[in-house]
Amino acid sequence: MGDNKRPENMERITTPELADAFITEQLEALRAQIGDKKVLLALSGGVDSSVVAALLIKAVGKQLVCVHVNHGLLRKGEPEQVIEVFRDNLDANLIYVDASDRFLSKLTDVTDPEIKRKIIGAEFIDVFAEEAGKLDGIEFLAQGTIYPDILESGPVKAHHNVGGLPEEMDFELVEPVKFLFKDEVRVVGRQLGLPENMVNRQPFPGPGLGVRCPGAITRDRLEAVRESDAILREEFAAHGLEGKVWQYVTVVPDFKSTGVRNDVRAFEWPCIIRAVNTRDAMTATIEEIPYDLLAKLAARITSEVPGINRVLYDVTPKPTGTIEYE
Ligand code: XMP
Repeated sequence: MGDNKRPENMERITTPELADAFITEQLEALRAQIGDKKVLLALSGGVDSSVVAALLIKAVGKQLVCVHVNHGLLRKGEPEQVIEVFRDNLDANLIYVDASDRFLSKLTDVTDPEIKRKIIGAEFIDVFAEEAGKLDGIEFLAQGTIYPDILESGPVKAHHNVGGLPEEMDFELVEPVKFLFKDEVRVVGRQLGLPENMVNRQPFPGPGLGVRCPGAITRDRLEAVRESDAILREEFAAHGLEGKVWQYVTVVPDFKSTGVRNDVRAFEWPCIIRAVNTRDAMTATIEEIPYDLLAKLAARITSEVPGINRVLYDVTPKPTGTIEYE
């Protein structure tokens, strides 16, 4: 694997001191590699790309150009947080592209999960390449590759299909965290001063909420996924579960059932909650969340999210259920 093998003597980064040493070493290496040239980064706001951005801002400041593409399938508050953290607080060169309409119109009436993924992946590359084409003098492309991305050859890696770039975009790669595991990236991120909720962020698939809105995506059902997810995250944080449960999601399937609201029959969607723990995402167990939390979630989601009249808890481990619904 040559360049892609973690050095055998590399110590596991578990403490702030070890993270500081890693940061100092990386800043030097990045400055040596990049010199006075410009670097481009697709900044999703996930832990990996955020840590890479924070390192590069420290190393080369405004020579870094971050592009944050909003594909319309992000969680509530995500683009705003990326802008606040990187543009407002860290004074980064950040291009924000709201391409929601473009993605959602391409996805209209598309029901096949794999075709949905492909459309989102291809569109992402197009939008990013268009933005890159408007910039002059970029020589490097930074990526938030982490060690499991290099090691994994199973279905998880095959999923990571958003973010690849056309081969004709001939940049030299900058991958400062490519030998780190996720827990190490989080320790480094914390030392770089990134907000705790960004450092602790759960994995979020490239196709975003699109895989939690099974079947053809409609704006109203997508909004129900986004709002219920925001409530789920808020309640998990309030109950001390943020950073403790590996991944928790809401899904709004494309069918309705009869309910009753203000004494009138209400024909609305269910909202499925799923909360799992795993080491490597290949298998997963169910988080046994307290019943009072479930009851609170049911009450809030059915009263605050338009179109939802039932809340269900998915108790299926992986296998047989995958973590995402598509
Ligand atoms: P599944 O649903 O296969 O998911 O049990 C395993 C892990 O991978 C994430 N995932 C994705 N990540 N692009 C990604 O970047 C994708 O298309 C994708 N699909 C699933 C999922 O969130 C879970 O952490």
